[in-house]
Amino acid sequence: MQPAPQARRSLPLLHAAPRVEPRTVRVSLTDRCDLACVYCRPSRSDGYLEKRLDDDAWRAMIRALVQAGVRRVRITGGEPLLHPRVTELVAFVASLGVEDLALTTNATLLAERARALRAAGLQRLTVSLDSLVPERFWRITRGGRLDRVLAGIEAARAAGFAELKTNTVVLRDDNDDELPALTSWAWERGIVPRFIEVMRVGEGAHLPPETLVGHAEMRGRLAHLLVDEDGARDEGRGPARYVHARGDARLRVGFITGTTDTYCETCDRLRVASDGTLRPCLATNDGVAAMDLAERGDVGALVGAIGEAWALKPDGRTWKGCTEDTAADVSMRAIGG
Ligand code: 5AD
Repeated sequence: MQPAPQARRSLPLLHAAPRVEPRTVRVSLTDRCDLACVYCRPSRSDGYLEKRLDDDAWRAMIRALVQAGVRRVRITGGEPLLHPRVTELVAFVASLGVEDLALTTNATLLAERARALRAAGLQRLTVSLDSLVPERFWRITRGGRLDRVLAGIEAARAAGFAELKTNTVVLRDDNDDELPALTSWAWERGIVPRFIEVMRVGEGAHLPPETLVGHAEMRGRLAHLLVDEDGARDEGRGPARYVHARGDARLRVGFITGTTDTYCETCDRLRVASDGTLRPCLATNDGVAAMDLAERGDVGALVGAIGEAWALKPDGRTWKGCTEDTAADVSMRAIGG
């Protein structure tokens, strides 16, 4: 099996014997996206992958992931709702009986798709939402229409997902004054808002360093709304730490601190790019190309490739993921965040 064409084996990653097994996978169904957020990609016309897995290849890949021990699946992109058969693929994953099935979307197409996705077995949904001010939203996403996204979120609420969250990448002087407004807006709708430190991954590495608003500063801006505690992770559900509202423990806000406080040591995630490359870490281009195996439907060999990719996972104690220089060369859009 050949390594991914772009894969580089950068030695200082200290591949240790993996401490955890791959339990969670992020499946990037397509690298296409209809937006070009300033922290993610340089423009709407940056290059796309030449070839993507077809539906049968995806089915083989997902079977192999489940055989290899994966229990939680998140569908991402690019923008996954641009995949014409996203609903069918969600239904296929659901039919395998995974514990958790979630999807991350920019919601531009969600109004039309929310009900079908829920009916297909999708449990949880995360929507990227960087501003509630239309002009700002348009500027940050380079042309996105906030009204479409809000209609998508309403449709998702009506569809009755088990959990709805928003992701806001906090950018100084662009949306860092909106944290309280986004929080109240989300809470009023039964949504869990999450605030993300901009990471020096891909286009994020080209933003001026002062764009970063660190976790401590975010907490300061929300101090009147949140209890003064560190917060806690949702077991097995990624790196966000959740802090409760003052006076109402049912309401909470999530923080993802990939820049000021990395959390790589406990990472159980694997990623699959839409060309079938198995990637052990968001912050390097290391990976194992598995498109051919997936197209042949060779589930046994795919399980082997998953093991090979997992063995490339960097040591998260001494090698700190998104703060390492290799992260700047990674395309967040191509691998699904
Ligand atoms: N820093 C932090 N978050 C990012 N995302 C994309 N690029 C970056 C970056 N450089 C986030 C998006 C989306 C999720 C999939 O990844 O906002 O919510």
